[in-house]
Amino acid sequence: MKKTQSQNRIVLFPSIQLQPGERKLVKIDQLEIAIMNVDDYIFAFRNECPHQGIPMIYGPVTGTMVTSTPQEYKYGRENEILKCPLHGWEFDLKTGKSLFSPNQVSLLTFDVKKEEQDIVLYLKREPQNITIIDFNCSHIC
Ligand code: FES
Repeated sequence: MKKTQSQNRIVLFPSIQLQPGERKLVKIDQLEIAIMNVDDYIFAFRNECPHQGIPMIYGPVTGTMVTSTPQEYKYGRENEILKCPLHGWEFDLKTGKSLFSPNQVSLLTFDVKKEEQDIVLYLKREPQNITIIDFNCSHIC
Protein backbone atom coordinates (compact mmCIF):
# COMPACT_ATOMS: atom_id res chain seq x y z
CA MET A 1 0.00 0.00 0.00
CA LYS A 2 1.33 3.41 -0.88
CA LYS A 3 -0.01 6.90 -0.58
CA THR A 4 0.32 9.12 -3.60
CA GLN A 5 0.61 12.91 -4.06
CA SER A 6 -3.04 13.56 -3.29
CA GLN A 7 -3.71 12.87 0.39
CA ASN A 8 -7.13 11.48 -0.39
CA ARG A 9 -6.19 9.10 -3.14
CA ILE A 10 -5.13 5.84 -1.55
CA VAL A 11 -3.59 3.03 -3.52
CA LEU A 12 -4.70 -0.01 -1.54
CA PHE A 13 -3.20 -3.05 -3.27
CA PRO A 14 -2.50 -4.48 -6.71
CA SER A 15 -5.73 -5.32 -8.55
CA ILE A 16 -4.48 -8.86 -9.14
CA GLN A 17 -5.05 -9.45 -5.42
CA LEU A 18 -8.82 -8.95 -5.81
CA GLN A 19 -10.17 -11.37 -8.38
CA PRO A 20 -13.88 -11.64 -9.27
CA GLY A 21 -15.73 -13.07 -6.28
CA GLU A 22 -13.07 -11.97 -3.79
CA ARG A 23 -13.39 -9.51 -0.92
CA LYS A 24 -11.07 -7.59 1.35
CA LEU A 25 -11.64 -5.68 4.53
CA VAL A 26 -9.86 -2.34 4.80
CA LYS A 27 -9.56 -0.73 8.22
CA ILE A 28 -8.92 2.99 8.01
CA ASP A 29 -8.56 4.45 11.47
CA GLN A 30 -11.91 3.57 13.13
CA LEU A 31 -13.69 2.92 9.84
CA GLU A 32 -14.10 -0.52 8.26
CA ILE A 33 -14.66 -0.61 4.50
CA ALA A 34 -15.54 -3.76 2.60
CA ILE A 35 -14.07 -3.98 -0.90
CA MET A 36 -15.61 -6.46 -3.34
CA ASN A 37 -14.95 -7.57 -6.86
CA VAL A 38 -18.21 -8.66 -8.49
CA ASP A 39 -17.81 -9.68 -12.13
CA ASP A 40 -14.78 -7.39 -12.40
CA TYR A 41 -16.62 -4.37 -11.03
CA ILE A 42 -15.15 -3.04 -7.79
CA PHE A 43 -17.38 -1.84 -4.95
CA ALA A 44 -16.53 -0.26 -1.60
CA PHE A 45 -18.94 0.33 1.25
CA ARG A 46 -18.99 0.78 4.99
CA ASN A 47 -18.83 -2.61 6.65
CA GLU A 48 -21.90 -2.00 8.76
CA CYS A 49 -25.55 -2.65 8.05
CA PRO A 50 -27.66 0.48 8.72
CA HIS A 51 -30.22 -1.68 10.53
CA GLN A 52 -28.29 -3.29 13.41
CA GLY A 53 -24.68 -2.87 12.41
CA ILE A 54 -23.75 -6.40 11.36
CA PRO A 55 -20.64 -6.63 9.12
CA MET A 56 -21.86 -6.48 5.53
CA ILE A 57 -18.74 -8.18 4.20
CA TYR A 58 -20.49 -11.46 5.06
CA GLY A 59 -23.46 -10.56 2.88
CA PRO A 60 -24.23 -12.67 -0.17
CA VAL A 61 -24.31 -11.01 -3.59
CA THR A 62 -27.56 -11.98 -5.23
CA GLY A 63 -30.40 -10.82 -7.40
CA THR A 64 -33.90 -10.02 -6.22
CA MET A 65 -37.56 -10.31 -7.09
CA VAL A 66 -38.38 -7.78 -9.80
CA THR A 67 -41.59 -6.10 -10.91
CA SER A 68 -43.89 -8.51 -12.64
CA THR A 69 -47.55 -9.11 -13.28
CA PRO A 70 -49.88 -10.20 -10.42
CA GLN A 71 -49.31 -13.80 -9.29
CA GLU A 72 -46.10 -13.99 -11.25
CA TYR A 73 -42.79 -14.16 -9.36
CA LYS A 74 -39.86 -13.04 -11.40
CA TYR A 75 -36.23 -13.07 -10.29
CA GLY A 76 -33.71 -10.69 -11.81
CA ARG A 77 -30.77 -8.33 -11.29
CA GLU A 78 -28.41 -11.22 -10.56
CA ASN A 79 -25.14 -10.04 -8.92
CA GLU A 80 -26.45 -6.48 -8.45
CA ILE A 81 -27.73 -6.84 -4.90
CA LEU A 82 -25.93 -7.18 -1.58
CA LYS A 83 -28.03 -8.84 1.08
CA CYS A 84 -27.53 -8.31 4.79
CA PRO A 85 -26.54 -11.66 6.29
CA LEU A 86 -28.64 -11.15 9.43
CA HIS A 87 -32.14 -10.01 8.41
CA GLY A 88 -31.86 -9.90 4.63
CA TRP A 89 -32.24 -6.21 3.86
CA GLU A 90 -31.23 -5.76 0.23
CA PHE A 91 -28.97 -3.01 -1.10
CA ASP A 92 -28.10 -1.96 -4.63
CA LEU A 93 -24.36 -2.63 -4.94
CA LYS A 94 -23.83 0.36 -7.26
CA THR A 95 -25.57 3.01 -5.18
CA GLY A 96 -25.74 1.51 -1.69
CA LYS A 97 -29.44 2.37 -1.58
CA SER A 98 -31.82 -0.10 0.01
CA LEU A 99 -34.42 -1.62 -2.26
CA PHE A 100 -37.28 -1.10 0.18
CA SER A 101 -36.61 2.58 0.98
CA PRO A 102 -33.95 3.93 -1.37
CA ASN A 103 -34.27 7.56 -0.32
CA GLN A 104 -34.11 6.89 3.40
CA VAL A 105 -31.98 3.81 4.06
CA SER A 106 -28.66 3.09 2.41
CA LEU A 107 -25.19 1.72 2.89
CA LEU A 108 -22.45 4.31 2.88
CA THR A 109 -20.47 3.77 -0.31
CA PHE A 110 -17.01 4.98 -1.27
CA ASP A 111 -15.42 5.88 -4.54
CA VAL A 112 -13.14 3.00 -5.55
CA LYS A 113 -11.53 2.29 -8.90
CA LYS A 114 -9.27 -0.10 -10.66
CA GLU A 115 -6.56 2.22 -12.01
CA GLU A 116 -3.99 0.51 -14.18
CA GLN A 117 -2.70 -2.28 -11.94
CA ASP A 118 -4.03 -1.02 -8.61
CA ILE A 119 -7.21 -0.74 -6.57
CA VAL A 120 -7.54 2.90 -5.53
CA LEU A 121 -9.85 4.30 -2.86
CA TYR A 122 -10.82 7.97 -2.59
CA LEU A 123 -11.58 9.40 0.84
CA LYS A 124 -12.64 12.85 1.95
CA ARG A 125 -10.22 12.82 4.85
CA GLU A 126 -6.63 11.84 5.24
CA PRO A 127 -6.21 8.45 6.88
CA GLN A 128 -3.71 7.89 9.67
CA ASN A 129 -3.64 4.08 9.78
CA ILE A 130 -4.63 1.58 7.12
CA THR A 131 -4.86 -2.19 7.57
CA ILE A 132 -5.91 -4.56 4.81
CA ILE A 133 -7.29 -7.99 5.67
CA ASP A 134 -7.84 -10.77 3.17
CA PHE A 135 -11.32 -12.11 3.54
CA ASN A 136 -12.33 -15.61 2.61
CA CYS A 137 -16.06 -16.10 2.66
CA SER A 138 -16.32 -19.29 0.67
CA HIS A 139 -18.26 -21.01 3.50
CA ILE A 140 -20.19 -17.97 4.76
CA CYS A 141 -21.27 -15.57 2.03
S1 FES B 1 -28.73 -6.13 10.67
FE1 FES B 1 -28.86 -5.93 8.53
S2 FES B 1 -30.97 -6.13 8.08
FE2 FES B 1 -30.84 -6.31 10.23
